[in-house]
Amino acid sequence: MRFNNIALAATAVVSVTAARPSDTPICDYYTTALLKNNTAKNQLTLLTLLVNTVVIGNYTEPNVGIKVPGILAAGKVNDTEVNLLPYFSGELASTNRGGKMGVAVNFLDGGGAAPLMKNKAANDETSDQYFLLTHLYQFFGSLLGCSEQGMAGFDAYKAQSSMYKVHKFMDLDYYQVTYFVTQVGLAAASFGVAEDDIKAVAMALNSIFNVRCAPATTAIKAQGAQLQSICIDKSCPLAKDGVCSKYDTPIEPKNATASGDESSASASMASGTATATGTSATTEASATTTGGATAMGLSWAAAAVGFAAFML
Ligand code: HEM
Ligand SMILES: *[C@@H]1O[C@H](CO)[C@@H](O)[C@H](O)[C@H]1NC(C)=O
Ligand SMILES: *[C@@H]1O[C@H](CO)[C@@H](O)[C@H](O)[C@H]1NC(C)=O
Ligand SMILES: *[C@@H]1O[C@H](CO)[C@@H](O)[C@H](O)[C@H]1NC(C)=O
Ligand SMILES: *[C@@H]1O[C@H](CO)[C@@H](O)[C@H](O)[C@H]1NC(C)=O
Repeated sequence: MRFNNIALAATAVVSVTAARPSDTPICDYYTTALLKNNTAKNQLTLLTLLVNTVVIGNYTEPNVGIKVPGILAAGKVNDTEVNLLPYFSGELASTNRGGKMGVAVNFLDGGGAAPLMKNKAANDETSDQYFLLTHLYQFFGSLLGCSEQGMAGFDAYKAQSSMYKVHKFMDLDYYQVTYFVTQVGLAAASFGVAEDDIKAVAMALNSIFNVRCAPATTAIKAQGAQLQSICIDKSCPLAKDGVCSKYDTPIEPKNATASGDESSASASMASGTATATGTSATTEASATTTGGATAMGLSWAAAAVGFAAFML
């Protein structure tokens, strides 16, 4: 997939930016503004750009001046250090594969950052990285209301329905989940999404996933009400009408490399670029991205700047 060939609707962007009509989903509005035709394929493109930026930080060139470290980069929330990379690299036995404890899985096994910088999910279609990224495109597409999702070109989300179950062995705290949500907001801002829309998305994410003991809630309509708390540590705010009895006592994930099983640790990030190593990194540290970044072309820049000017 090459996005630098896409004709972006620079002039349309500026004229439709005044305000998003409340009956137009965020997904459709920004697909139209940035990619013009509101097709399933373009909606997937929008979600690919957004999610890849959330994961590895801003990588599109040129950009509008908003730096996104990405969730693989260590950073801080207030004064608390956060480093999510070990949950994705296989360093921690934190993945739920149905057992009583977490197992270590390297989610960077499809080429790591390099394919993401080419607006792809992975170098293949069989890796854990491929399934994680494509599921994220689909899940967030649904949260953002993509009207064409489910048509050819953008599949509906049909993976795990309970975000609690997916994340339960990670034992995530308020700072970690807040860091993730912050990266979503920064990534959206880097593409010119309006502040009100970013706030609405952050509020939804925080209220559904960044609280502990949340009662069963519908995130994906077809999947019905499910336990959705991703934040399960004591530091997490208690959900309104919390049902702690439905949640197991959190268990801290074990370090898979310390016990001598180094097979899946860190692996493919080495092959270039977007690493986020180093415990002393702050939000200044970025998950970037060197020469290989995709040139988005002048019309993209113009479109994005149009948005950013409105927002800032
Ligand atoms: C609002 C916050 C978040 C949302 C909405 C979210 C959503 C998701 C979704 C939809 C999946 C795919 C599930 C599937 O393939 O069935 C997933 C997987 C995953 N998430 Fe999150 N996530 C959030 C926060 C976090 C945080 C803070 C971490 C920290 C490390 C994290 C780590 C992971 C990992 C490692 C996986 C792969 C798990 C697996 O395949 O079993 N997520 N997440
Ligand atoms: C938008 O879609 C229409 C109908 O499919 C097509 O004719 C047109 O060329 C597309 N425009 C762009 C910019 O892709
Ligand atoms: C990310 O954004 C920052 C701020 O605009 C910029 O300095 C940096 O060069 C960008 N990184 C890439 C790879 O585009
Ligand atoms: C960070 O500090 C601000 C200001 O004190 C506070 O409102 C916010 O809840 C804090 N965030 C976290 C994740 O603790
Ligand atoms: C896991 O153990 C290794 C080796 O002792 C150590 O370098 C690493 O920091 C540990 N990782 C975590 C997340 O605790």
